[in-house]
Amino acid sequence: MKIELENVKDINLSYVKDFFPEKYEKHKINEMNTGIENGEHYKLLSYLSDLFENETILDLGTRDGLSALVLSKNNKNKVITYDLLPKPEQMIPFENLIPNCEFKQMNVFDEDIEIIKSSKLIFLDLDPHDGIQEKKFSDLLESINYQGIVVCDDIEWFPKMNSWWNNLTQVKYNVTKFGHGSGTGIIDFSGSVDVLGL
Ligand SMILES: C[S@@+](CC[C@H](N)C(=O)[O-])C[C@H]1O[C@@H](n2cnc3c(N)ncnc32)[C@H](O)[C@@H]1O
Repeated sequence: MKIELENVKDINLSYVKDFFPEKYEKHKINEMNTGIENGEHYKLLSYLSDLFENETILDLGTRDGLSALVLSKNNKNKVITYDLLPKPEQMIPFENLIPNCEFKQMNVFDEDIEIIKSSKLIFLDLDPHDGIQEKKFSDLLESINYQGIVVCDDIEWFPKMNSWWNNLTQVKYNVTKFGHGSGTGIIDFSGSVDVLGL
């Protein structure tokens, strides 16, 4: 599979404005990250979801549902979004637009291992971003011989996240320039991804 990062800029997320007007403006959701604090990764997530068809994508950490919304844009895939907290109210206005998205209120570490293993794309964005859940999750993926790709948020700003990221032994790409100003990484557990345009 080829990830052509130059194509991320062509993703249109203007519809997000209807559901997250403040974030849309403040974080310039439909613009490219310029490496600054407000640069966001939602175009990248939407671009990546378009590379798959008839697959299950896992969104680890729902919060208000923004990452779930953009990952679900390609309705040929199913998205499962997880949070410890109840389903956010912000999802109610667009729930019916994304019937391919299922919210699960649960700890992601309690999920059926077969569901995790069968997902080709996972977005890992769990608070508090201290490297502990991230290490637990990457160890879990390694132990089950996971074969997909994992997009990781906040790999640069938080020292313990940075340390976890630097110590990963899998093939990995720092794609912050095309993602979130706080640091975005892609781990290729499949070993078969070409990342172009870095
Ligand atoms: C940074 S927010 C997610 C933001 C969201 N991905 C987005 O971009 O719109 C992180 C979320 O992870 C949730 N969380 C933390 N640990 C979790 C766990 N073990 N299982 C499920 N959710 C968890 C928190 O409750 C929080 O809402």
